[in-house]
Amino acid sequence: MEEKLLEINGLRTYFFTKSGVAKAVDGVSFDMTQGETLGVVGESGCGKSVMSASIIRLLASKSGKIVDGTVTFNGTDVSKLSREELRKLRGSDVAMIFQDPMTTLDPVFKVSDQMIEMLQAHRNIDRKTAAKECIQALADVGIPDPHKRFDSYPFELSGGMCQRVAIAMAILARPKLIIADEPTTALDVTMQAQILKLLKELQEKYGTSILIITHNLGVVWQICDNVMVMYAGKVVEKANVRELYSNPKHPYTWGLMDSMPSLNDTPKEPLSTIDGIPPDLRLVGKGCNFRARCRYAKQCCEDTEPEMVEVCDGHFVACHFQSRTTNLVKGEENRNDG
Ligand SMILES: Nc1ncnc2c1ncn2[C@@H]1O[C@H](COP(=O)(O)OP(=O)(O)O)[C@@H](O)[C@H]1O
Ligand SMILES: [Mg+2]
Repeated sequence: MEEKLLEINGLRTYFFTKSGVAKAVDGVSFDMTQGETLGVVGESGCGKSVMSASIIRLLASKSGKIVDGTVTFNGTDVSKLSREELRKLRGSDVAMIFQDPMTTLDPVFKVSDQMIEMLQAHRNIDRKTAAKECIQALADVGIPDPHKRFDSYPFELSGGMCQRVAIAMAILARPKLIIADEPTTALDVTMQAQILKLLKELQEKYGTSILIITHNLGVVWQICDNVMVMYAGKVVEKANVRELYSNPKHPYTWGLMDSMPSLNDTPKEPLSTIDGIPPDLRLVGKGCNFRARCRYAKQCCEDTEPEMVEVCDGHFVACHFQSRTTNLVKGEENRNDG
């Protein structure tokens, strides 16, 4: 059996605000094996970032709390770790790459100082050796003239270069898992493709697992093994990429796929094909969260939340009308009584 690296079970992260409780992550479960690349897709505000930050218990806002569920990383229950152990986990075992590389980089310090400090925080290593490894990492991520870049301030580098530096920092500690939250969204198309190729190469070289969050399904097809579709704090579909691509089952996934620009297309408006926007997560109640936007919805979608069911091997869907025995077909009238 394949070794499980990450196991998430019934994870719930809520934001307790004056105007109500936002269920940003509401009962998410999934596993990742060593070396797997898992893509998480869904529109803005569906809980992708909060879910990924919850893995390493790094919630930016005090109002956000993990209220339920377990996260097991490499056999260890992350909620049981001390502050010091958590600090070690972040950076050494699990590294994050964000959309904005300046979340990682500090504009007022040279790349060299930041990289060396980061490396020394995780490993007992002298400055000279550290510098050598850092420059090698910059070369590995395809930064031309790495010595010169190493001695620069972030503002002297382009956005794409800064993102490469952030990736170099993420891989320096040889983490088991890289969580990349929209790592290419801010970059132009050429740079996006280069960064994705780079991530894939690093993974092949070091066997790193990658959890990549994106609203771009094209990115998923390019580099992921498996994909998970999130909607309003919940996983609505998950499967391996080829299966999901050829046999998507959830009406939300259909909408996502229809609105995906093909690689040579000019980009369309996001989700031009699904009317409406994701619900306010303070107001979701019983039933299926997607029902208000779903042309196939029936009474049962108002009344009960659909459970995740395995429609075929390894392909899970949370829709009342999809199972091993029932099969709602895209574009056809939903005859299912309910
Ligand atoms: N600081 C915050 N305060 C209150 N609610 C928040 C905060 N951050 C996130 N949320 C809630 O969590 C939801 C999911 O956010 P997020 O994970 O950032 O979405 P995504 O990454 O999918 O775009 C938001 O729609 C919002 O309801
Ligand atoms: Mg996000």
